[in-house]
Amino acid sequence: FSLKDYNTFGIAARAKYFVEINSVSALQEILSNDSYPRKICIGGGSNMLLTGDIDALFIYINIKGKEIINENQEQVSVKVMAGENWHELVLWTLDNDFGGIENMSLIPGNTGTAPIQNIGAYGVELKDTFLECEAVRISDQKLITFSKEDCAFGYRDSLFKNKGKDKFVITSVTFSFTKKHHIIKTGYGAIEEELSKNSIANPTIRDVSNAVIAIRQSKLPDPKELGNSGSFFKNPIISKKAFNIFIEAQPNAPYYKVSEDYFKIPAGWLIEQCGYKGKRIGDAGVHTKQALVLVNYGNATGEDILGLADQIINEVMRRFGIKIGPEVNIIK
Ligand code: EPU
Repeated sequence: FSLKDYNTFGIAARAKYFVEINSVSALQEILSNDSYPRKICIGGGSNMLLTGDIDALFIYINIKGKEIINENQEQVSVKVMAGENWHELVLWTLDNDFGGIENMSLIPGNTGTAPIQNIGAYGVELKDTFLECEAVRISDQKLITFSKEDCAFGYRDSLFKNKGKDKFVITSVTFSFTKKHHIIKTGYGAIEEELSKNSIANPTIRDVSNAVIAIRQSKLPDPKELGNSGSFFKNPIISKKAFNIFIEAQPNAPYYKVSEDYFKIPAGWLIEQCGYKGKRIGDAGVHTKQALVLVNYGNATGEDILGLADQIINEVMRRFGIKIGPEVNIIK
């Protein structure tokens, strides 16, 4: 079964077995079946790199549904099933005037996979509106509820990438959205610039979403046109000591202060300085407008992409002494 249409990188790897799942009970049933060598769950396929054909059952989680479970004048809690497309959810919140995820417009992928890496953009992360999620434990197929605390969210990080890795399948996420939008975040990146271009002084959540969409469309490739997984690398977080050495040598480098002791350096900047922006090797390339994004010009294999990624990692290490690592889930 070709997985080409099930991963946004557009890698033509094959799965030995494939099943589409539309309900939690169907998921529990397939997970209890132990006649497969290995099982891999996929949602939107937007944060994975397939490195070759795989002798496994691919379980495509396509469970749909949204439900308002609680509401008062200020807040609304909405339970969203895992297979709901993330951006369609953002548009639905705007149509209902529910605030909180407008800054995360146009992030590819599905709602169920969003908590795994605590997706984020333009100063907002999934954890900011997250109330709880439900997940099926693979070992005994029990449905378990995880609180925000249980999820141990961090920068592009959660329980589900660490202790809980490969142990759970998220089936729903419950959010708390605002009905009165006291906080509208426009301070990050180019949002303000984009708003003032359109002479918007008091932006609504829809205005913020439109600004983010415009910014993203100008920098990030549309996976439907050019295969990619968004940021391929994480922005490295380095100690104050390492940062002081770095910034002395590179006084013009952009950075974010994470805490008193840690600093985050944009990997896109490091990669661009190494001359890799826009570089292409066969069908694997570095996006021309954002060096953090690797792209598939058509027929790249997962190995082609990994080869290019390794070159970049080595070159950034050689030039800056900083170790960058992938953000995407590499499936071998
Ligand atoms: N930069 C360069 N060259 C590049 C790319 C970036 O010099 O090729 C510089 C920019 O000029 C800027 C800085 O790096 O000074 C940061 O760039 P940008 O604001 O575009 O954000 P980023 O750090 O590259 C992160 C997220 C994106 C998210 C944006 C906006 C990570 C790994 N990536 O990128 O998330 O959209 O911030 O919030 O944290 C994703 O995870 O898939 C993703 C696209």
